[in-house]
Amino acid sequence: MSVHAEVRRISVPQLTAYKGQKKLAALTAYSAPIARLLDAHLDMILVGDSTAMVGYGMPDTLSITAEMLTAHAKAVVNATQRVCVVVDMPFGSYQESPEAAFRNAVAMVAGSGVQAVKIEGPAALAPTTRFMVERGIPVLAHVGLMPQYMNVMGGFKAQGFSEEVAERIVEDALAHQEAGAFAVVLEGITEALGRRITETLSIPTIGIGASPACDGQILVTEDILGLSGSRIPKFAKQFADVGSVISNAAQQYADDVREGRFPSLEHCFGVKK
Ligand code: KIV
Repeated sequence: MSVHAEVRRISVPQLTAYKGQKKLAALTAYSAPIARLLDAHLDMILVGDSTAMVGYGMPDTLSITAEMLTAHAKAVVNATQRVCVVVDMPFGSYQESPEAAFRNAVAMVAGSGVQAVKIEGPAALAPTTRFMVERGIPVLAHVGLMPQYMNVMGGFKAQGFSEEVAERIVEDALAHQEAGAFAVVLEGITEALGRRITETLSIPTIGIGASPACDGQILVTEDILGLSGSRIPKFAKQFADVGSVISNAAQQYADDVREGRFPSLEHCFGVKK
């Protein structure tokens, strides 16, 4: 008989059931060491396409590929046991047609072991959400400020200040809900709009720069750890200065090496000369 205590992952339906019961805490992770540290504390980890900018120093999220995100997602899944892991579908991998989206999502899910995918998009993408959900791939929708639409939106601009745009974003969120999305990320919108969508939807809203009126929050881990240099968004509270810890450790290491303070193999293994 196996004596392993089975650790079950938080499932997608469990996350949906948080609505009105408890706030959903989520962060991004792109690598095994960070994911391992986050696992015990969060409800969901997103392997976001933000790694294009945060991890690779690209100017935007448009050039990261499905292969790259799948490799990051696999590392995160392998390093975690209890958190629900979701991967971003990259730009161009789901907009063409529901069929192409499903095919690409299957490759990402099968190649990494994640439980769900996230897609950015207005109501026009709701049929894609429906197509994937009906075929076994849970979808987290992302509306409001959609970084993959930066060239259409004219940059990374907060959304929802006019009644017309606010109304459209409510419609976008509702369309994805009706298509079967298990939750909706609301990025860069006003508090009034965040509250309105949260009160309208029966699935959780996960805000990023969208106010505490949302059912939960997702932030980029590097932003809250002081690892993003000067590019920290105003809504991202910094909880630690890991950047200084790494920098100090690197300096001490370099000093040690330059002073010749590094051990021999015999010293490590206690071998007598
Ligand atoms: O790519 C990303 O990290 C996101 C966010 C919602 C944080 O989409």
